[in-house]
Amino acid sequence: MEFNVPFTKDQVKEWNVPTPFHVYDEKAIVENAKKFLEAFSWAPGFKNYYAVKACPNPYIIKILKALGMGTDCSSLPELMISEKVGITGEEIMFTSNDTPAEEFVYAKKIGAIINLDDISHIESLEKSAGMPELICFRYNPGPLKVTGCDNVIGNPEDAKYGFTKEQLIEGYNICKEKGVKRFGLHTMVVSNELKEESLIQTARLLFEVVLEIKEKTGIVIEFVNLGGGIGIPYKLDDKPVALQKVSEGIKKLYDELIVANGIDGLKIVMENGRFITGPYGYLVMKVRHMKHIYKDYVGMDACMTDNMRPAIYGAYHHINVLGKEGNGHKYDVTGSLCENNDKFAIDRVLPEIEVGDILVQHNDGAHTYAMGFNYNGKLRSAEYLLKEDGSIEQIRRAETTDDLFATLDFSKL
Ligand SMILES: Cc1ncc(COP(=O)(O)O)c(C=O)c1O
Repeated sequence: MEFNVPFTKDQVKEWNVPTPFHVYDEKAIVENAKKFLEAFSWAPGFKNYYAVKACPNPYIIKILKALGMGTDCSSLPELMISEKVGITGEEIMFTSNDTPAEEFVYAKKIGAIINLDDISHIESLEKSAGMPELICFRYNPGPLKVTGCDNVIGNPEDAKYGFTKEQLIEGYNICKEKGVKRFGLHTMVVSNELKEESLIQTARLLFEVVLEIKEKTGIVIEFVNLGGGIGIPYKLDDKPVALQKVSEGIKKLYDELIVANGIDGLKIVMENGRFITGPYGYLVMKVRHMKHIYKDYVGMDACMTDNMRPAIYGAYHHINVLGKEGNGHKYDVTGSLCENNDKFAIDRVLPEIEVGDILVQHNDGAHTYAMGFNYNGKLRSAEYLLKEDGSIEQIRRAETTDDLFATLDFSKL
């Protein structure tokens, strides 16, 4: 895998905006999303509900909406962002857990597809918002792991999410008795999965459950949501997912299990975030200090509030030094947080670095800015869209100390 930066050091200078910032390549996002949707165009009713949690910026979501994507929301603010973009009704899939009553009420009011995380939530939903016409359940396969998949979201048996198989059957029956007319089935068992086979086998898992539900309850499921989790290459030796292979594998199973059993109207949907925007975001940051003690440190003006993945998962994010090439030196690339794990890279061989150099960290378009926080009073950076003509448009300003202190009343001290 080669990691190229779609802008130059001169462009960054011309943009003349303070570092650090996150920038998303609009053209690349659109091209990738189109290819993704095309790969699954054979699938009845195919839709990707973009996982808002991956990059909760309404300007990005607006771009995806124009291509036909909906949103996958896990909270009230994510529902609100979707609404602001004009995404409502069944264009939204609401997959939350430990859901507060007011979020059920809001989701029902705007007509989102409500995906319940637990059998006890049927009662919570009914009491708080009333039963909808369409309902979906999240399935946790427990010990029935997806074949060939080793990149699960933890061990399903240890995961807090979803219904057991028995609960699914019971839950669909309960909802049918309560007058629900339409039903969906969802799972999310993989994360950043690069193996085509395990993505294909997620579909098998759900198709088989669809058949079992029909047999045991008479309910014909309207759609399966295969979740998100399609992976992207983070490391130099990671191989991109061959989407066509995944699509063909799922189609083969669809024909064998679904069409052959006479339920060929079954829709297939997904809720990928990372695969859609991840590779097209860049964290642009400047070297503030160099420090030489027992190791050589590059002190950035960004910190782990801009991307905590390296700190919490030990994740590798490739880094380029703009305008420099070659392997000069081994560095730890650090932020300014009072946490020793505030490191973008450890023992990374990079070109010889000096104060003022611009470093660009890749795969910043999903689960990076979004996971930001304010520890140490660090302020979140601005977000920009890289336009086709090489200019940038601000799509979120940087936080200020006024934003940070907005919840405090200093006058009462
Ligand atoms: C329920 C659910 N759906 C979708 C996603 C999106 O995952 P990804 O961005 O890896 O596709 C997540 C990620 O945490 C999730 O928890």
